[in-house]
Amino acid sequence: MPTDSPARWSAIILAAGEGTRMRSKRPKVLHEIAGHALVCWVVEAALDAGASRCLVVVGHGRDDVERVLSTRFGERVEMVLQAEQRGTGDAVRCAIEADASLEGRVLVLYGDCPLIPAALLRNLVEKSDRAGADLGLVTATLSDPSGYGRIVRNATGRVHRVVEDGDCSADERRIDEVNPGLYAIRAGFLREAIARLTPDNAQAQLYLTDVVALAAERGEVLDLEGDMTELTGVNDQRDLALASATRRRRMAEELARSGVQIANLDALYVDAECEIEPGASLGANVHLRGRCLVRAGARIDVGCVLTNVVVDKNANVLPYTVATDSSIGEGAQVGPFSHLRPDTRLGPRSKVGNFSETKKTTLGAGSKVNHLSYVGNGEIGERVNIGAGTIFCNYDGEQKHTTVLEDGVFIGSDTQLIAPVTVGRGAYVASGTTVTEDVPADALAISRTKQVNKEGYAARLRARLRRKKKP
Ligand code: UD1
Ligand code: CA
Repeated sequence: MPTDSPARWSAIILAAGEGTRMRSKRPKVLHEIAGHALVCWVVEAALDAGASRCLVVVGHGRDDVERVLSTRFGERVEMVLQAEQRGTGDAVRCAIEADASLEGRVLVLYGDCPLIPAALLRNLVEKSDRAGADLGLVTATLSDPSGYGRIVRNATGRVHRVVEDGDCSADERRIDEVNPGLYAIRAGFLREAIARLTPDNAQAQLYLTDVVALAAERGEVLDLEGDMTELTGVNDQRDLALASATRRRRMAEELARSGVQIANLDALYVDAECEIEPGASLGANVHLRGRCLVRAGARIDVGCVLTNVVVDKNANVLPYTVATDSSIGEGAQVGPFSHLRPDTRLGPRSKVGNFSETKKTTLGAGSKVNHLSYVGNGEIGERVNIGAGTIFCNYDGEQKHTTVLEDGVFIGSDTQLIAPVTVGRGAYVASGTTVTEDVPADALAISRTKQVNKEGYAARLRARLRRKKKP
């Protein structure tokens, strides 16, 4: 084999455990970091590293785990069932028994280590291959190694075995070199070794880690030094929060390096599927969830929460805007405190201002809903002005109805539009009107009682009321 192109190799990822330490109904490996399940991060790293096949061992919550994996990776992952969770060694046994054709090198990973970099995996496979080692693994040192398996070395400094935290002697517990749980193992050896595992340990399980001692009996184990900040395993909610923060920080730094202006590298929450173009700017505590696209020159100010939103060039999203499944046109302005609900399409240079809510509405170029309005099921043309406190009465208790405002319409403040209703091009609706019928183009619609002024009445009224007041 040429050393720079290792043979085809496979990955086995263990994701059948319950994760009791999470104290959550969800299977542990489906807890999310930056919008992706833990196990998806691991599968992605293995595929990125060049695994030709990727077998995921599922068990606890398998329907949900399988659904998440196949939605994300389709044919690129194969599922193997571990019906009872009898330990990590047993999980690997399930995978190799399910597939007799596994050959070459097998990379075994745990589905709860979401920060693993693909480059380290590739390196581990290549180095193990080149050394001809039955088993290669990564080790790392930690100031607080508790919870992790410890690396026991022999007199010559070679890796001798791994001892689990719960099985450590007092001396072993002090070892600060830990097992992050990445192994590149020759398939033939793995098959033999797994068959020899026994459950004589504190947890009465089959430990995958015992395979290390079996490899060391036969020859030298290859070991690579890793950095534990990118190899942490998630066992409880604290680990999840810490791993999440590490991933977020890493993503924020990548974005900043690519030319996105970022107010605070530690206060940015961007899901992995979002795209932010260089030249965009993101304020502190901005959350971009699902698939958002933020184009160059757009500015998302502090505290905005956007889910599946496209923000076009030079748009300005002011503080504390919440938007979902919507698009914000070029140079448009939204917020502060606006709520764009699903299917809001804002045209170029349009404006939605404070305390306005929109839903299933298109707003044409240059149109404005500046203050305190509800605009639902609307088809709004260009250069339309919607005054403060306007309500689209779109729901009759049974069905939603559409309000159409043609180009150039002016809606005065405190108007209710009872849908279905159309206001024709250039029409003017006077403040306080309840629009129940279509308004023809260029007409004025007004519906309010006529105002009467009674001269001097206020003073007389006040005097009368004062006289009545009890002392
Ligand atoms: C494991 C290692 C430990 C290492 C640590 C690194 C073993 C025995 N111990 O411990 O040396 O330091 O990871 O993070 O391997 N799983 C199954 N089936 C099972 C049991 C577990 O698929 O029967 C899966 C889990 O879903 C999980 C992974 O294997 O994704 C690891 O299991 P976990 O119980 O978290 O192992 P640790 O105690 O962390
Ligand atoms: Ca773990």
